Amino acid sequence: MRFAPRMSSIQLSGIRKMFEMAGEGAVHLGLGEPDFNPPQEAIDAVCRAMREGKNSYQSTFGIKPLREAVAERLRRYWNEITWERVVITQSGSEALFSAIFSVVGEGDEVLLPDPGFVLYAPQVTLSGGRPVFYHLKKENSFRPDLGEMETLITDRTKAIVLNYPNNPTGGVIDEAVAEEIVDLARRHGLFIISDEVYDRIIYSRQHVSFLGRYERTILVNSFSKTLAMTGWRLGYMAGEKEIMERVALAHYHVLACPSTPLQYGALAAMEGEDDFVEMMMERFRRRREMVIEGLKRIPGFSLHPPGGAFYAFPSVNLVKDGKRLSSEEVAMELLKGGVITVPGSAFGEAGEGFLRLSFATSEDLLEEGLKRISSVVEELDR
Ligand SMILES: Cc1ncc(COP(=O)(O)O)c(C=O)c1O
Repeated sequence: MRFAPRMSSIQLSGIRKMFEMAGEGAVHLGLGEPDFNPPQEAIDAVCRAMREGKNSYQSTFGIKPLREAVAERLRRYWNEITWERVVITQSGSEALFSAIFSVVGEGDEVLLPDPGFVLYAPQVTLSGGRPVFYHLKKENSFRPDLGEMETLITDRTKAIVLNYPNNPTGGVIDEAVAEEIVDLARRHGLFIISDEVYDRIIYSRQHVSFLGRYERTILVNSFSKTLAMTGWRLGYMAGEKEIMERVALAHYHVLACPSTPLQYGALAAMEGEDDFVEMMMERFRRRREMVIEGLKRIPGFSLHPPGGAFYAFPSVNLVKDGKRLSSEEVAMELLKGGVITVPGSAFGEAGEGFLRLSFATSEDLLEEGLKRISSVVEELDR
């Protein structure tokens, strides 16, 4: 069988590999999803919509009341946002694909974070483009180095993908860095594709959005994380109207329109979003502290405390039989000890030497997971 050559350059992500190898009773610190159910009103609203016959195709751009609710939500970042500048998608992942596929042409280069979320590079490759990586370093609090970014820009560079709060590092940025990035993008005429799916999962400061800061921004967001509905597959894009009309074309030819009843569910959930987020954040704050304190006590682990999202991304220096273990080997040792984590290398070359631990799991499991990590490390000679 002969498949398209472009398919030979992409694979399933390294995160999946770890799950498939896990034994029964393993503590999952691998999953990037909240361990909560979506708000009950949302579930009721989906069922009601189905019963009321809201089961047909709707607008490619999403149902108007949901676009209005999203615009209202985004007004905290950009006062001028209106519902016409919002496109509802079938997940953040689909929004990313539609944005990248619309912007990136054959041979175009796109600046991507390394380490970074696993879908960016394959989506650029599938669009005919070439990923070029900028590095997020722990000593720079996982913020981009603007000097490095500038040196990576060529006349083929088309866009920069940004992701703050960041997966996998938990890094966040401030206003000054955002302005510097915008200045760079403007000077070189680049698109900014800003993946802000963790915008409300932030610990120490207000989220800094790229929306409304620069006219060539495509904001990508999702209902998955803030409303604990990862399996519903709903997200959105926002930006200038002309840009949205263009990216919605790609979105249309991929899926025609997002799921109708689920959009009614998301709409109902958005009314109580603030309370729901506060409930989750209270738990995430507690768990974040547990991980920070827990890892401090484990030799060989060094953590820059996450400013956002629900991931800890410690550097790990462990030795076995006189040899330093790679991050994949560390993850394998931990797996044998009954804890699922994700090796930093699953997120790019610069992730080597790190491990991603998700603390979107119950306090009990987190405590057990940390205990098991500690026992595995004790058994190793450092
Ligand atoms: C940084 C980032 N962007 C986008 C997504 C995609 O989210 P979804 O497709 O569930 O909306 C994720 C999910 O893990 C993520 O971590």
